[in-house]
Amino acid sequence: MGRRLLILGAGGHGRAVADLAVECGWSVAGFTDRTRGPGVLGEDDDIKGLIRAGKADAAVVGLGNTALARRSELFDLLKDAGATIPTLVHPRASVSRTCRIGVGTVVFPGVVLGAAVDVGDNVVLYSNAVAEHDCRIAAHAYLSPGVILTGAVTIEESTFIGAGAVLFPGITVGAQAVVAAGAVVTGGVQAGATVLGSPARPVVPARGA
Ligand SMILES: CC(C)(COP(=O)(O)OP(=O)(O)OC[C@H]1O[C@@H](n2cnc3c(N)ncnc32)[C@H](O)[C@@H]1OP(=O)(O)O)[C@@H](O)C(=O)NCCC(=O)NCCS
Repeated sequence: MGRRLLILGAGGHGRAVADLAVECGWSVAGFTDRTRGPGVLGEDDDIKGLIRAGKADAAVVGLGNTALARRSELFDLLKDAGATIPTLVHPRASVSRTCRIGVGTVVFPGVVLGAAVDVGDNVVLYSNAVAEHDCRIAAHAYLSPGVILTGAVTIEESTFIGAGAVLFPGITVGAQAVVAAGAVVTGGVQAGATVLGSPARPVVPARGA
């Protein structure tokens, strides 16, 4: 299998993913981005063409938390294009062998994934994030550095968890919710809500409320 990786997004997160990819044995074919710059091969509209022209052997999403909605759209575009989408796990992450990790997911150094943890596609697990036994992290979720999911926490699709947040055992965070940096989440979070503080409280009404 070839080992040249295309990264969608040339910003800070994209460059962090490039660094991770090299640690995982890939070479970086280049980036796509709206703005031209070093290593940028084209824009979003060029992605399918670049893949079909064999400019890279595989591709991953490298947009960060400033473009959360676009992350899932670009992932779908990669699937439509028939791209090979790898899973990148840093050699210094600790992953239980009973853990499943989806494609397009990036696992940075120091991450710990415990027994029977299930991680979906296109998830970001930043440095030193911990998910203990039986957690479920759905597609497109984004866990910032140092997040702690205690046992059996469920993170639904496209949620954002800020740096250093701690989530109590067994709770569920609904789809597209936002948990602020440093929050201590002691109960469930509704889909689309933003919570912050210790104990965490909603700051924006849940969608439809
Ligand atoms: C929750 C969050 C998304 C809210 O962002 P926002 O809507 O732009 O909110 P603002 O920055 O305007 O702050 C609104 C208020 O909440 C407070 N606040 C913001 N973040 C807070 C936090 N994490 N904990 C406690 N209070 C916070 C602000 O001080 C401000 O208070 P004020 O109204 O008394 O001045 C953001 O603050 C946050 O925590 N982001 C996570 C950052 C992170 O971890 N990034 C990692 C990327 S890898």
